[in-house]
This record gives sequence, structure tokens and C-alpha cells, in this order.
Amino acid sequence: KQLFQTIPGSGPPPAVKRTYKVTVVGVGNVGMACAQTILTQDLCDELALVDVVEEKLKGEMLDLQHAAAFLPGSKIMADTDYKVTEGSDLCIVTAGARQREGESRLALVEKNVTLFKNIIPQLVKYSPDTTLLIISNPVDALTYVAYKLSGLPPNRVIGSGTNLDSSRFRWLLADHLHVNAQNVHGYIVGEHGDSSVPLWSSVSVGGVPFLAFLKHKQIEYTIDTLTELHKMVVDGAYEVIKLKGYTSWAIGYSVASLVKSLLRDQRRIHPVSVCAQGFHGIEDEVYLSLPAEIGRTGIIGVLDNPLTDDERAQLQKSAKTLTEVQKQLDI
Ligand code: NAI
Ligand code: 2OP
Repeated sequence: KQLFQTIPGSGPPPAVKRTYKVTVVGVGNVGMACAQTILTQDLCDELALVDVVEEKLKGEMLDLQHAAAFLPGSKIMADTDYKVTEGSDLCIVTAGARQREGESRLALVEKNVTLFKNIIPQLVKYSPDTTLLIISNPVDALTYVAYKLSGLPPNRVIGSGTNLDSSRFRWLLADHLHVNAQNVHGYIVGEHGDSSVPLWSSVSVGGVPFLAFLKHKQIEYTIDTLTELHKMVVDGAYEVIKLKGYTSWAIGYSVASLVKSLLRDQRRIHPVSVCAQGFHGIEDEVYLSLPAEIGRTGIIGVLDNPLTDDERAQLQKSAKTLTEVQKQLDI
């Protein structure tokens, strides 16, 4: 049995391309954190920014251009007209309403679907071969919307999903165990948000299964400790929003890591929002996060990892929540 299952459109990468163009739609907190991490990590040759607020857009473009002497050398352009995005290899969508304190991500859906009806067709018009990376919330439902509106194959419409939640999870575990987060492997799957699911059964630390690691180190834990840790992951964004009004740096780094896997054909595994139909007993055409191999063609395959009965039931519950949201959408 293969480790990865392909999804429609997956295939070998095209011949190596020498220059890459990335578009970021929405130059708010998140869009600019993405632009900044992409530029400092030298991930593209051209960066196009789009927003509806002309002055802010021009100001952000100039401010980045003024850093030219300290950056690797990407060309930066910006316009309210989508012509500026022409020929983009990757379009990252961060435009739209964000949560107010205490508000859930799902509450944003109607407002942001309306914006997507304008944004997505324009991106595909100017870059028919692009890959779409959706960040705006609720990211799972909006990735589904982008898939429907774009007409692109499923492997080229990706939501940042629980790539961020999984980093929060790994950080909390690493902090708890006093090890580096890069040595903690573990995935949060399902909804990017309240119904997300931690896959405890596959968490490992330095290659050692997590629960065995705790036992070996004689670290006491109960199911409540694990539940509390996952709750901290879910509450993480609410806490940051309460403290500073929005989240930006972690999503910026999460996006840069996805961009690197995509444009450099790194074939790393990230938990991202994909069409989950057919996986783990999910029957609906619903978008949610599963660990997926990512490369130049977008999603190369979805990891067919074994789940415990409880994890599978929680994932199916998360899928039902998101299916209900998708059913209400006016697209
Ligand atoms: P923000 O309010 O700072 O920026 C939003 C930007 O979108 C503004 O510059 C606005 O002018 C622009 N915009 C609005 N309508 C537009 C349109 N039709 N076309 C182009 N641009 C348009 O908001 P922020 O903090 O940057 O958040 C953006 C989105 O990202 C929100 O939906 C937020 O919930 C989401 N987000 C998602 C995360 C994830 O992990 N998926 C993490 C953090 C935020
Ligand atoms: C985050 O998790 C709010 O979705 C946003 O940071």
C-alpha cells in the first residue's frame, strides 16, 4: 500500500523554472507578514501586491522597496488592478475581514465569500497556471470556495489550514519537554479552528513515540493533560487577538514554509487544507487539513496515516461541522 494517495491533477513537476512570481492579495497584517517572510527568505524573484486601499498599498510597496539594499533582490510591484499579478506561479490570498475579540473564524464566512467572488476569477484570469494558497478565514470553507470559483484542479488549490495550529502544538510540546520544536513531530488535522483534532497517536520526539517518551522520562500525564494542551492550541489565536488585536508573525512564517515547499519542490509534508473526500471515511466533498506532501505541482499526495478510532471519529465530526458551513455558502 502506498504511503501517499494521489488526488486529481497530481503528477510529476514541470521542467525546472528559473524565476518565480508570487502574488499576495491583501496588504493587511497577514499579507505584509507573508510578504516580509517571503522576501527575507529569498523565495521569489517577483512579488506583486494587490489590495483595494490604494494609498496603503502604495505605502507598503514603497516601504518594502526601500529595504532593497538589505534584501536578496526581488522585484516588488503593487496595484489595485489584477494585471499586475499576470503570470504568477503562486497567488496567496489574505484579503478580507478578520475576527474581533472572541469572534469565531466561521463567523467571517459570508463577508469573505463575497470578496472571493471578485478576487479568485481575476487571479485565474491573469495566471491560469497558478497555484492558489488561501489564508483568509474561515480558511477551510474559503479554500473550498476558491476551488469552486477558480476551476483549477484540486491539487492547485490549497488552504494554509492547520500548518499553523500544528506549529503551536509542536511549540507547546517542545516547551513542556524542554526540547527543540523541530525535534517534535505531530499534526493537528481537521478544521483550522475550534473543531481541530490532535493526532496524539503519531506524535514523536526525536523519533521516539511521544507517549513512550513520557513514560521513559517518567513524566506524569493524564488524558486531561493532553486535552488541556490541545485546548491551549485552539485558544492560542483567541489569546493573541485579545492581546494585540490580530495574529500575523506565526502565520507569516507558516506561509513562507509552505511557499518554500511549493516553489522549491521540497516535497515536505505539511498539514494543509485539501479536499478530504475519500480519506478516513469522509464522504463529503469537504475541505479540511490532512498531512500532505507539497511540491512544485501543489499537493502531490495526501498521507494515508493510520488514526485511532477516537481520532477518526473526531476528524469525521470536524468534517461534518465544515460540511454544514459549506452547505450554507452562496456560490
Ligand atoms: P487586515 O484587516 O489587517 O487586512 C485585510 C486586508 O484585506 C486589508 O488591507 C483590506 O484592505 C484588504 N481587502 C479587503 N477587501 C479586499 C478585496 N476585495 N481585495 C483585496 N484586498 C482586500 O486583516 P489581517 O489581520 O491581515 O487578516 C486577513 C485575513 O487573514 C483574515 O480573514 C484573518 O482571519 C485571516 N487569518 C488567517 C490565518 C490562518 O491561519 N489561516 C491567520 C491569521 C489571520
Ligand atoms: C490564527 O489562527 C486567527 O486563524 C488565525 O492565527
